[in-house]
Amino acid sequence: MKADILKIREDFPILSQYIHNKKLVYFDNAATTQKPRIVFDTITEFYSKYNANIHRGIHFLSNYTTDATEKSRKTIQQFINAEKSEEIIFTRGTTEAINLVAFSFGESFIKENDEIIVSEMEHHSNIVPWQMLCERKNAKLKVLPFNEIGELETEQLNGLISDRTKLIAVTHVSNALGTINPVEDIIKIAHAKNIPVLIDGAQAIQHLKVDVQKMDCDFYVFSGHKIYGPTGIGVLYGKKELLNKMPPYQGGGEMISTVSFAKTTYNELPYKFEAGTPNYIDAIALGKAIEYLNCIGLEKINKYESELLKYATEQLKQIDGLRIIGEAKNKSSVISFNMEGIHPSDLGTLLDHMGIAIRTGTHCAEPVMQHFGITGTARVSFAFYNTLEEIDILTISIKKALTMLK
Ligand code: ALA
Repeated sequence: MKADILKIREDFPILSQYIHNKKLVYFDNAATTQKPRIVFDTITEFYSKYNANIHRGIHFLSNYTTDATEKSRKTIQQFINAEKSEEIIFTRGTTEAINLVAFSFGESFIKENDEIIVSEMEHHSNIVPWQMLCERKNAKLKVLPFNEIGELETEQLNGLISDRTKLIAVTHVSNALGTINPVEDIIKIAHAKNIPVLIDGAQAIQHLKVDVQKMDCDFYVFSGHKIYGPTGIGVLYGKKELLNKMPPYQGGGEMISTVSFAKTTYNELPYKFEAGTPNYIDAIALGKAIEYLNCIGLEKINKYESELLKYATEQLKQIDGLRIIGEAKNKSSVISFNMEGIHPSDLGTLLDHMGIAIRTGTHCAEPVMQHFGITGTARVSFAFYNTLEEIDILTISIKKALTMLK
């Protein structure tokens, strides 16, 4: 992989840019990944040659674009090994997918005094929709804690579950800590008590091989923009049997079978959950991003990103006063850290002026910050187009920033 990196980087034109007259080092991949040329070439190609609304026309352009959208659905189905392509619902992203389940599953299955379990390390998007559901239904949200190194205390799960537990929603990989959670164990524990599980895959799908049938999750959600695809497109995978029992999330065109003022009947899956004109061109480009990843191979990517993580962890640990937040044994390529006596945003601003893009703040995971009694962290997150040399630049730049800030 190392040998191929320069070639791979040519597919991502943004990476050869200069920011503040410095060669860009992009270490904010957990927030969004950069796009290979094939993604924006596809978008340009479709808008300039094939654009027409899908599932509606009898003309060439509409059929062409409809076929391309459905081909992308199949690519995604195969990528996560879903049993059926109708189990793949296009959404705006992870957040909308979780809101869809919270609303629709919630309508059908959550009643007063029922319980939903989330973990303490969730992104706000896997907390707030469940809190809103609990408020609507007068249900209760319970929290599975994590320990000091940022690993979930899975052994506590059985004690949290009661006969009123109706759903468990947990992240596959923490965006703030990098922890890879033992989701298969959690799903086994939940299924032993017939409780469905939603897995937030926003930070996992671009790093790990996901097989939803092997994992046996009931829902798996992710965003296109975190997996080298466009913004504004994402995926909800759900088991067909469950999706069929859930009411539509939004009403409008596409999601209906027939409409009259007396009664409307709904379309079949996946269209029942895709009201309105879908973001089909980005859906097509997401399929292209996944084909691109398949060509490199997720196993190769995962191995290389693990090397980047190991090297960066070793280098950062040598910096005086630097504390890594989240040291789980099983981690993805995310490092959150704090510097003694220095505000993360001051460090982030100085690094930006040195051409290095990192994220600072709470990372939309305030409960994680509350756990550690901190107001935020600096976070670097790697993708397969990053290099060991860029990590060296980061280390040198942090040391330089420290001399300026102290
Ligand atoms: N959820 C994204 C992040 O962790 C935005 O940065």
